Amino acid sequence: QHQQLRDMFADDFYIGAAVTPFTIQKQEGLITHHFNSVTAENEMKFVSVHPTEDEYTFEKADKIMSFAKENNLNVRGHTLVWHNQTSDWIFENEDGSTPTRNQLLERMKSHINTVMGRYKGQIYAWDVVNEAISDQDGEFLRPSKWLDIIGEDFIAKAFEFAREADPNALLFYNDYNEVNPEKRDKIYKLVKSLLDQGVPIDGIGLQGHWNVYSPSIDLIREAIEKYASLDVKLHITELDISVFAHEDKRTDLKEPTEEMMTLQAERYKEIFQVFKDYRKHLTSVTFWGVADDYTWLDNFPVKGRKNWPFLFDENHSPKQSYQELTRLH
Ligand code: XIL
Repeated sequence: QHQQLRDMFADDFYIGAAVTPFTIQKQEGLITHHFNSVTAENEMKFVSVHPTEDEYTFEKADKIMSFAKENNLNVRGHTLVWHNQTSDWIFENEDGSTPTRNQLLERMKSHINTVMGRYKGQIYAWDVVNEAISDQDGEFLRPSKWLDIIGEDFIAKAFEFAREADPNALLFYNDYNEVNPEKRDKIYKLVKSLLDQGVPIDGIGLQGHWNVYSPSIDLIREAIEKYASLDVKLHITELDISVFAHEDKRTDLKEPTEEMMTLQAERYKEIFQVFKDYRKHLTSVTFWGVADDYTWLDNFPVKGRKNWPFLFDENHSPKQSYQELTRLH
């Protein structure tokens, strides 16, 4: 048996993986051997658990929770307030009218109460608000129905409701493109202003959807440094290292080249070295999957293009990327 990742980083941070009921079946051995934390890849999102106003569907989420319990895995909750994968009914009344600010706040509160309440004491950290910052230069918050109907304080409200629902859970703001300097500064500004207002927030989630070429290791370090200066916890929440550059749209590759795998191994090594350097603040690193036989990147951003972003290959054998991590001190 190969050395467990969670042991390798036992003095540093939790090692997590996004899972689904399907991957729990296919990758159980790897998950239980190497990881000590899991996140539901889709099963706790709004549209999965709350398809209509009076109906909650927790079967798949419950499955993941019992798997975690049986195997002593910590659970990160993902996610409560987001512009994607959120049921339309919450933004539109039955008669077609738009809910008022107070109506939408009531719905948000009741959703947060029900979902966090169900797993109270079992989910130690929640991504309360996901991806609320804009990627456009000169625009602060992302345009969304949450913002439209409630206004800018929808974020603060979500955190307040979350703290009430489970006072012991750590509450995170989570986003992508998080080390890009413009976006980084906006995330910093948002979280700083929440802290200054006394809004209950415990940490920043860096999704970590990166590739073998970018972002640079300096940008990664600078972002972690800047966020850490707020003295909040940092979690890497959705790490994967795509083998393709952003502009590369090729779909013809059936297996990764040796060069890709070597580049990726070097990347993983330098990135984890930075993570270790910040272990005082950075307390969890979650991969957005487990092994190369299944990744959301097979359909994003290019549909049907195979990718190989993880430490384990399609047959669940450790890759060069895994080997490099064993060499860190
Ligand atoms: C992705 C899942 O991996 C896919 O299976 C799903 O089709 C779309 O969502 N940022 C997030 C995650 O916060 O929830 C997203 O997960 C990936 C980007």
